[in-house]
Amino acid sequence: MPDILTFTDGRSGESFEAPIEEHSIRATALKQAGLASFDPAFLNTASVRSAITYIDGDAGILRYRGYPIEQLAESATYLEVAYLLIHGELPTQEELAHWAHDITMHTFLHENVKRVMEGFRYDAHPMGMLISVVAALSTFYPEAQDVDDDAVRMQQVVRLIAKVPTVAAWSYRHSRGLPYVYPDNDLGFSANFLSMMFRMAEPRFHAEPALERALEVLFILHADHEQNCSANVMRSIASSKADPYVSLAGAAAALYGPLHGGANEAVLRMLNEIGSVKHVPGFIARVKAGEGRLMGFGHRVYKNYDPRARIIKQTADEVFEVTGRNPLLDIALELEKIALEDDYFVSRKLYPNVDFYSGLIYQALGLPTALFPVMFAIPRTSGWLAQWLEGVQDPEQKIARPRQLYVGPAERQFVPIESRRALPVSTH
Ligand code: CMC
Repeated sequence: MPDILTFTDGRSGESFEAPIEEHSIRATALKQAGLASFDPAFLNTASVRSAITYIDGDAGILRYRGYPIEQLAESATYLEVAYLLIHGELPTQEELAHWAHDITMHTFLHENVKRVMEGFRYDAHPMGMLISVVAALSTFYPEAQDVDDDAVRMQQVVRLIAKVPTVAAWSYRHSRGLPYVYPDNDLGFSANFLSMMFRMAEPRFHAEPALERALEVLFILHADHEQNCSANVMRSIASSKADPYVSLAGAAAALYGPLHGGANEAVLRMLNEIGSVKHVPGFIARVKAGEGRLMGFGHRVYKNYDPRARIIKQTADEVFEVTGRNPLLDIALELEKIALEDDYFVSRKLYPNVDFYSGLIYQALGLPTALFPVMFAIPRTSGWLAQWLEGVQDPEQKIARPRQLYVGPAERQFVPIESRRALPVSTH
């Protein structure tokens, strides 16, 4: 059987053929029939060929470069995973040492960046600070505009993976009115981040090993997730050949929303609002009546338990052994139990996603709720950059420019201002 899709325009009876490649047809094949495809939220439109992350949402499978997420979370460090995403293979001992050294040597920020950060209001949301400061980094590294140069690109990859944690930690210190802590180059990626967050007067901050490892696991789980909203924004901005700093700032802005990376923050607010296990049934009833969503549940691609949520649940138990049990956990467990049995959630295939339990861990680590999306952005930086690198080197990449179905007025004549009628108040 030929790999061809034949379709007939019922209006004219005319038939057309479109070659099938990789279980898809080119949307441009519809042009021969004078048609466009309409898919406002990319529900069934592949925008790229990608070799980075594989998801089978029905089976609950997630792999980076072919490696199952469970194995990476169990055995790898975040920097190994970042290397894997960027370079396509796990590093050798020597490659990892070189990579870790490179990242460590770029963790400091220009002192003027610090001054930019000091200019924010005391109560600035750390995610707003992160987005702005990452965009501001573009002005410090103008050479980054040369996005067609391999060496220049890799220099920005190292800088961004190294500097985003420093910006993130400083945004937290700023919100607390605490002095910014400079990076400690003798510490690993996560230990250094914890040091920049929590070090006070002591000469060296010693993180609890179980908490440091939990953070590594969270970073690994959040590193990439193929063509999600923010990765799509990263690729879309970069398709105009904008530099990776402003592209990444745009991606981080997309992540900020409560339907994406802001969901972990929203979950914690929801759990606090519910307040007690006895209020869970009432809350579920309100969700089912359409009065709000069960945050941390549901996913565009997972129609099964999100594999990251499973690992995070285990990690949460390990963290609580050190920090003591988060009282909100009981509410979360009860919500999950009821939702997994309730026909509303079962029939819509709504399962806990990565954000359902991550916030509880962040809270146990002593992080304020507003910092949760920032915690997501730190590791996702390597994923965004891997997506960016793949995009700029893709021979099929062109500037992203969707079509539209125009539904506005047909041509009409300009009306002088004195002849115009006011709109009803509600449409202003
Ligand atoms: N609570 C209650 N109902 C829900 C939920 C939810 N969390 N999610 C989806 N539904 C319902 C929705 O009302 C709809 O019902 P109906 O068919 O009767 O209209 C049906 O399920 C399908 O929902 P949808 O909005 O069409 O699904 P989507 O693929 O467009 O949205 C989602 C995916 C993640 C935005 C959505 O599930 C959601 O809003 N979840 C809560 C926010 C959240 O946890 N986001 C984090 C996602 S994971 C981290 C990340 O990748 O960023």
